[in-house]
Amino acid sequence: MLTGGGDCPGLNAVIRAVVRKGAGIHGHEFVGFRDGWKGPLEGITMPLGIPEVRGILPRGGTILGSSRTNPLKVDGGLDIVRENLLRMRVDALIAIGGEDTLGVATKLDEYGLNVVGVPKTIDNDLSATDYTFGFDTAVNIATEAIDRLHTTAESHHRALIVEVMGRHAGWIALHAGMAGGANVILIPEIPFSMERVCAYVESRFQSQYAPIIVVSEGARPEGGDTATLEKGLDAFGHVRLGGIGEWLAGEIEKRTGKEARTTVLGHIQRGGTPSAFDRVLATRFGLHAVDAVEAAAWGTMVALRGTDIVRVPLSAGTSELKLVQPARYAEAEVFFG
Ligand code: F6P
Repeated sequence: MLTGGGDCPGLNAVIRAVVRKGAGIHGHEFVGFRDGWKGPLEGITMPLGIPEVRGILPRGGTILGSSRTNPLKVDGGLDIVRENLLRMRVDALIAIGGEDTLGVATKLDEYGLNVVGVPKTIDNDLSATDYTFGFDTAVNIATEAIDRLHTTAESHHRALIVEVMGRHAGWIALHAGMAGGANVILIPEIPFSMERVCAYVESRFQSQYAPIIVVSEGARPEGGDTATLEKGLDAFGHVRLGGIGEWLAGEIEKRTGKEARTTVLGHIQRGGTPSAFDRVLATRFGLHAVDAVEAAAWGTMVALRGTDIVRVPLSAGTSELKLVQPARYAEAEVFFG
């Protein structure tokens, strides 16, 4: 088993469920690969039996470690992974990850390796599953922050901006903004008009309240670019996003004359204990992933459909991102300003 990409509350719950059912019911033996795809590439493992998974259900992060290592960017990477798995007599690999990690898993499946996937991302942007674990925890953390910011914003008659994660999809901003009663929500899917944002800010001040603006890190103004922190790309070709919140504060101050401040929630959204919802979803994903291994359902991943856990082809989860559709955004817009 391995966990790849950004960590996410609930990863340990998946690992625990896989091992408890796999070892306890099906009689499987496990080995943990360290730090995402770095583990199978470099042959770095750790023991993974029932004793190793005791007590990890409520713990954030991943006991296996994670990384954004991409075997497809290493010369002969897939061959090296295959040779290492054969050498260690690994019959099947459970890969827990998002778009990038499962993309590599899809390639390995096409390459003839026995792979099963478990979808993970706080961004909730994987298609083929209604929700990914980690998302609910991130939304709860962001909502609590918004609740707290309301009172300080009102005391100081300031516009407060909350920058949340969400590279391509605005699910965290949409849900936390709606739950926290934000006055404006800005998401990557829909470029925003700075004039409209300022009009909402001013109308909120006119009603004697102070505006809260929730912005996804990947949101951008009409005709503008996404804000990035550095020029480099990671092994999966992603830029490091950040800075849209500060940019918005500057524009709001300049255009409305009102004071504005930004809070960037960053990795706080990914750290710490998972919510009860995420613990249950992650546990169910783990139980069904190990059943998929037992059933030799290679090339599939587990997914949530309504309240059921189903198996779908790995490629279904990674071929296209699940984005916020205009009708969902329009529901939130009713409360803007
Ligand atoms: O994909 C999950 C995510 O948390 C994104 O929301 C965010 O853009 C990215 O990871 C941050 O990655 P890192 O922790 O590697 O900077």
